[in-house]
Amino acid sequence: MNILILGSGGREHTFAWKIAQSTKCNQLFVAPGNSGTAQVATNVNIGVNDFKAIKELVVDKSIDMVVVGPEDPLVNGIHDYFLNDAAIKHVAVIGPQKVAAELEGSKEFAKEFLYRHNIPTAAYESFTKETVEKGYAFLETLKAPYVLKADGLAAGKGVVILNDLEEAKAELKSMLVDAKFGQASTKVVIEEFLDGIELSCFVLTDGEHYKILPTAKDYKRIGEGDTGLNTGGMGAISPVPFATDEFLNKIEERIVKPTINGFKKDNLPYVGFVFIGLIKVGDDPKVIEYNVRMGDPETEVVLPRLKNDFVEILQAMAHGHLDKINIEIDERAATTIMLVSGGYPEAYEKGKEITGVHAIKDSIPFHAGAQLINNKIVTSGGRVMAITSYGKTYQEAIKKSYQNIEKLHFDKMNYRKDIGFDL
Ligand code: AMP
Ligand code: GLY
Repeated sequence: MNILILGSGGREHTFAWKIAQSTKCNQLFVAPGNSGTAQVATNVNIGVNDFKAIKELVVDKSIDMVVVGPEDPLVNGIHDYFLNDAAIKHVAVIGPQKVAAELEGSKEFAKEFLYRHNIPTAAYESFTKETVEKGYAFLETLKAPYVLKADGLAAGKGVVILNDLEEAKAELKSMLVDAKFGQASTKVVIEEFLDGIELSCFVLTDGEHYKILPTAKDYKRIGEGDTGLNTGGMGAISPVPFATDEFLNKIEERIVKPTINGFKKDNLPYVGFVFIGLIKVGDDPKVIEYNVRMGDPETEVVLPRLKNDFVEILQAMAHGHLDKINIEIDERAATTIMLVSGGYPEAYEKGKEITGVHAIKDSIPFHAGAQLINNKIVTSGGRVMAITSYGKTYQEAIKKSYQNIEKLHFDKMNYRKDIGFDL
């Protein structure tokens, strides 16, 4: 079959790398892709939200399946767009339909879903410009720190956690009244602060059945010791050492099962990846958020541990027989370290040549913000490349990644040297 992957990050290079290993994939395209996807697939310069151009490509290249990487096109309804067009409705789309994608598109929608299905999560209330005074009063009933979340998509910046009550009130006003995050903060969810260690759980579903992929932990802050600004993710480890069988069992029984059953009860059509952001509070898992896609850089450690033919799994998801699949996982640990442009997550320069990629041994360089220009690999984004390694332990895997990073260079290259420090 012919497959199209949408996206251009490390996650999409990992998808392409894994799909390209399958004998079931004939032609593989990535739109728009990066210098890594160009090694294993054909890049097509089309944006992920340009549905019309995507349709033309799908028809022109007889594409049978579209695997959607990022959340944007899902929240914008790409799956529905395919279903509503006779010329492409037969094409399998991996990713939920628009109503279900609201689980990531709206924090309030996600919280209502969690409450309706009795899934453990932080207590919350939501507010609008009209109810901002009630929001101040609600903040007064809470203890610090205060967690404020813009309801809509805000490019990962919409969550603000503050220690001071007056600052929290000012932030609430800035979000609701001054539209700090534009449309995304027309509503704000205020949540109880949960204290614990975070991990990510990934579930595949065909809408009826589910399979759980290995857990992963990502490192979101730019600075060592988990300090400084939030990023898209600076590194990841799989499996998560503290996720014991007993804890995983709690996740499945209390969170995964009611989530998948909730999709059915609420008529949320869901064929795709469910990324459940969790926090371990005491010995119990609670849901921080849903994402309707795989995580990045978690994908760079989760997929390399999957032994199955990935296309067989995707087909089973699309055709409703995921129950027939037996997921096989590599016993080894996998880790990834993200190389980023100096300055990221704030302003940074692009177009820096990346050297040393061919010298890498025993690690897999998954390209992210990197493009091939005049036969040179140059930086094109904040997160540039994820260096993934396997090891008997995560410590061994991390060591390999760091050894290989020594061989890589670009001007103002930055990365965290302490991934795994907290485990
Ligand atoms: P989100 O975009 O919902 O994942 O939130 C971003 C980050 O904020 C999470 O990864 C957590 O580190 C933190 N966070 C979100 N909600 C809470 C909460 N209720 N308690 C503590 N930390 C939170
Ligand atoms: N690494 C977190 C995310 O993909 O949202």
